Amino acid sequence: MNPLTHEPLNILGIETSCDETSVAVVRDGREILSNLVASQMDLHAKFGGVVPEVASRKHVELLNPVLHEALAEAQVGFDDVDAIAVTHGPGLIGSLLVGVCAAKALGYVHRKPVLPINHLEGHIYANFLVHEDIEFPFVCLIVSGGHTDLILMREHGIYEVLGRTRDDAAGEAFDKVARVLGLGFPGGPAIQKAAEGGNPHAIRFPRADMGATLDFSFAGLKTSVMRFMQGLPTPETRHLRASDVPLSDIAASFQQAVVDVLVRNLMSAAERFRVSTVALAGGVAANRCLRATATAAAHAAGLRLLIPPIALCTDNAAMIAEAGYFHFLRGERGDLDFDTFAVLPLLSPS
Ligand code: KG4
Ligand code: ZN
Repeated sequence: MNPLTHEPLNILGIETSCDETSVAVVRDGREILSNLVASQMDLHAKFGGVVPEVASRKHVELLNPVLHEALAEAQVGFDDVDAIAVTHGPGLIGSLLVGVCAAKALGYVHRKPVLPINHLEGHIYANFLVHEDIEFPFVCLIVSGGHTDLILMREHGIYEVLGRTRDDAAGEAFDKVARVLGLGFPGGPAIQKAAEGGNPHAIRFPRADMGATLDFSFAGLKTSVMRFMQGLPTPETRHLRASDVPLSDIAASFQQAVVDVLVRNLMSAAERFRVSTVALAGGVAANRCLRATATAAAHAAGLRLLIPPIALCTDNAAMIAEAGYFHFLRGERGDLDFDTFAVLPLLSPS
């Protein structure tokens, strides 16, 4: 509800940071009136990854129709929109610029506040769209194509980074290993599918131990899978030959190695910072093995685990609108003088 008018508060969200063109309308931070996601996945699949120039051109083509459809589905016009929330980083600059320019133009024409939102903050806030009574502090594991971050959230907008990957992000590891296994792009869903029915304990791929830190590393794991597939020995796989092991076992063993490390650090962080709630966010949080393993670990430790539904884990504009809603409630009204950033740390306001 708008604190000034006591009318329902509608936030229009726009997300174009990578290869998804998404527009959403979220009412009162609870109700997703629309959340359209036009994926460019098929377009990029033939290149084996997202091609930035192709992505930005496609955003230009898709944004207007997606915007109109999102408003129509939500049955709201610009008169009913209280603010526009748009991702301004981190992401592909060309892609971000399409969303940000559109948001600024719409804000200027319709005299609406435009709120720049960090994409990672959006991922965390997917949880606030669906879970009631979230208690602070909690630890959130953000796992996406570009990030693997453990965040302590003390209250709305207040973030502390507890750990992060020192090399590949978890999603990046899925995508690169999928390529090695000949499974195509995007790798996460492809590996999950290939792993179905496989034995996750067939091969003991390495789990990086980063000492006393809560950091992650997936480069060694990725190299181990690559060497294994090339028939080169590694300490873990010496006695096995790739041709003797079913693909489902290789995919399941890799997936389990990633998931074990993610859940291990999430649980350590919860213990160290004495929180009673933990959360997952980002595209890799769509992974069934991660969801099941985290659920079991949280249950065993007596913790509440928050996970967004799968459609809200991968990139979407409803999560950006949701983060924007809390910025708006804090009194932020934005201006049109903000930039886009390829790298944008999740910082608390100083
Ligand atoms: O959050 P997201 O949609 O975009 C970024 O912000 O990067 O995450 C995309 C990443 C990709 O690396 C993709 O392979 C991975 O999430 N992903 C998955 C699954 N679905 C998407 N990884 C593992 N299992 C999945 N089911
Ligand atoms: Zn994302």
